[in-house]
Amino acid sequence: MKKFLLTGLIALCLVPVSTGKPAYKNPRLPEEKRVEDLLSRMTLAEKVMQLNQYTLGRNDNVNNIGEVVGKLPAELGSVIYFGSDPVLRNAMQKRAMEESRLGIPLIFGYDDIHGFKTVYQISLGQACSWNPALVEKMCAHSAREARRSGIDWTFSPMIDVARDPRWGRVAEGYGEDPYVNGVFGAASVRGYQGAGLRSLDAVAACLKHYVGYGASEAGRDYVYTEISRPTLWNVYLYPYKMCVDAGAVSLMSSFNDISGVPGSANHYTLSEVLRDAWGFDGLVVSDWDAVRQLINQGYCKDLEEASEAAITAGVDMDMMSHGYDTYLGDLVGSGKVPLSVVDEAVRRVLRVKFRLGLFENPYTPEEAPEKRFFLPEALETASQLAAESMVLLKNDGVLPVKDVSRIAVVGPLANNRLDLLGNWKAHGEAADADAFLSGIEREFPSAEVRYEEGCNVRGEGDFSAAVELARWSDVVVLCLGEMLNWSGENTSRSSIALPAGQERLLEALKAAGKPVVVTLTNGRPLELNRIEPLANAILETWQPGINGAGALAGILSGRINPSGKLAITFPWSTGQIPIYYNRHKSGRRGTQGIYKDITSDPLYPFGHGLSYTTFEYGEPVCVGAPSLGAPFKVEVKVTNTGAADGLETVLWYISDPYCRVVTRPEKELKYFEKKLIKAGASETFVFEVDPARDLGYLDGAGRYFVEAGEYHIFVGDKDIKLQL
Ligand code: BGC
Repeated sequence: MKKFLLTGLIALCLVPVSTGKPAYKNPRLPEEKRVEDLLSRMTLAEKVMQLNQYTLGRNDNVNNIGEVVGKLPAELGSVIYFGSDPVLRNAMQKRAMEESRLGIPLIFGYDDIHGFKTVYQISLGQACSWNPALVEKMCAHSAREARRSGIDWTFSPMIDVARDPRWGRVAEGYGEDPYVNGVFGAASVRGYQGAGLRSLDAVAACLKHYVGYGASEAGRDYVYTEISRPTLWNVYLYPYKMCVDAGAVSLMSSFNDISGVPGSANHYTLSEVLRDAWGFDGLVVSDWDAVRQLINQGYCKDLEEASEAAITAGVDMDMMSHGYDTYLGDLVGSGKVPLSVVDEAVRRVLRVKFRLGLFENPYTPEEAPEKRFFLPEALETASQLAAESMVLLKNDGVLPVKDVSRIAVVGPLANNRLDLLGNWKAHGEAADADAFLSGIEREFPSAEVRYEEGCNVRGEGDFSAAVELARWSDVVVLCLGEMLNWSGENTSRSSIALPAGQERLLEALKAAGKPVVVTLTNGRPLELNRIEPLANAILETWQPGINGAGALAGILSGRINPSGKLAITFPWSTGQIPIYYNRHKSGRRGTQGIYKDITSDPLYPFGHGLSYTTFEYGEPVCVGAPSLGAPFKVEVKVTNTGAADGLETVLWYISDPYCRVVTRPEKELKYFEKKLIKAGASETFVFEVDPARDLGYLDGAGRYFVEAGEYHIFVGDKDIKLQL
């Protein structure tokens, strides 16, 4: 009797107390129960509306709040919100909560890519820091600014492996290597979502652009991509798997046609791989207008057919094509799209809304901008990330600059704040950024610093005053580079050289006979073969965000020892593209298969980056007896043989030289680690090799295999051969 009473009591405690509200409104019920309850109450029309994302345009703001909100269907699924003011967001949300029958909150998305208001280094530069923990921190700060400004969901990170620097979107990802994209993408996901999706310090991440978008032919945006299945699995899907495993709750389907089936209608990638093989239960949104573009791509004859193709492939939400809202109801009515397909898509949308806690907390607290933006820790992270991501490409000893009394600062990027912000600067403004010139003036208080622009970013201008200044100086700092909108979406270029006028400015300054330090600010690898011989030093700053100036000046003075290394190859010339380190082997080696007119080597390879100290790598050693059956360790001792403390990133590559299933790249990066090594000291770096993760490869069906035989592990200039 007593036992029954007790069990009854326990059971009572476990049964959720009825609140009198529908189950989906009860936060104590499990997510799936809430999803199913809500789904069961929805009409087809309500379901269809959840699957659309609209935007009301950039001009809509708090000043025309009534009109804006009036335009929104109360049952809509999502809005791309271009504002940074919670007041307007809240007014839109109020309409959804109070004027729709079931009170389903909107989810507000936005491209918070490398900073919302505090703008940080661009993603390509971030990868050159080899410091994913720092990128995680940056994304956490950025998430906080965004969520508190009304954004629940960021369309970031972009983890498209990109090997063609003519493609403007190389700026937005983490370079040419699948593993690097996976590691930094996963760090971003943890940064954005890590505080817990319900927290005001987190946003939902969206992996994009799924998949293969970086393979765009000839670097032209939006075009066809030819991707074999082994390459799809080992190069393009690889980082997505890592980031899905890191817990990303959404993905964006891509614009590109993947070998005949566009990314936004690709049942194989969206359903067979993502949903079935990987068990992903979150949401897939199309890229902007990508459903409609299925017509241009020659895959569907009209928007109705395109909507059918996209939803049945696994695109849950239609961003701005207005295909789902127009046709889905009828498509279900006519039986062309089963209701179960729509239900599954709605489930995925609702799940993310429940995970974000939007049903309980639909509104954003209306805090003043000073409470949200430019917090000291965010600014500190912006400085550190800028410092660690800059790459010293060349130095003949002119750097660090010592004992100079007259510094000439020249060039179109020297006193230019806007172009430091890079593409997708979100709510960042030029006025927020610190100009390189100001940083240099602060860094060298005992020197006289004078400035001349020389030419504008297009390379136009009269150089004479700049040349005069160079003659006066002890050293010239020449700040060259690109405009922020020369990279990013739809900014393909046939040549990746800087404008000829900028190169001529360098020639003219060099002729003045003074050492010239060139700094580069750009969103893609550049062709530097005319610049390299003239420059005494070259510092790649990328587009470092608002606090790049202190980092650049600190590197010039030696206060900061540069530690960035390239996460993407710099070709010697545009004609070598595509050129990347993890290429497949050639049938003829030595003198064949090479260019007859130019070198076949890149100017600066993947992993290149100089320091003010020198590091010596010892012989790597295997701890114990390695085998394919269990994880094992390889260690290397690295000694700082110079006079300055320095951060060193050790890159570990593997190679499987012979493979009968499918041939493999010459070498594949599998691990990296960055550590501070004091001058004269040594550090041991350890690569814990898990054969089940690090030594194998995927076949065309995505099956992982590891072959017995010879393997190599490369570290620094050393190679260890293993028979496993
Ligand atoms: C871009 C995406 C972006 C979306 C929303 C598209 O044109 O390709 O990267 O997230 O617009 O702004």
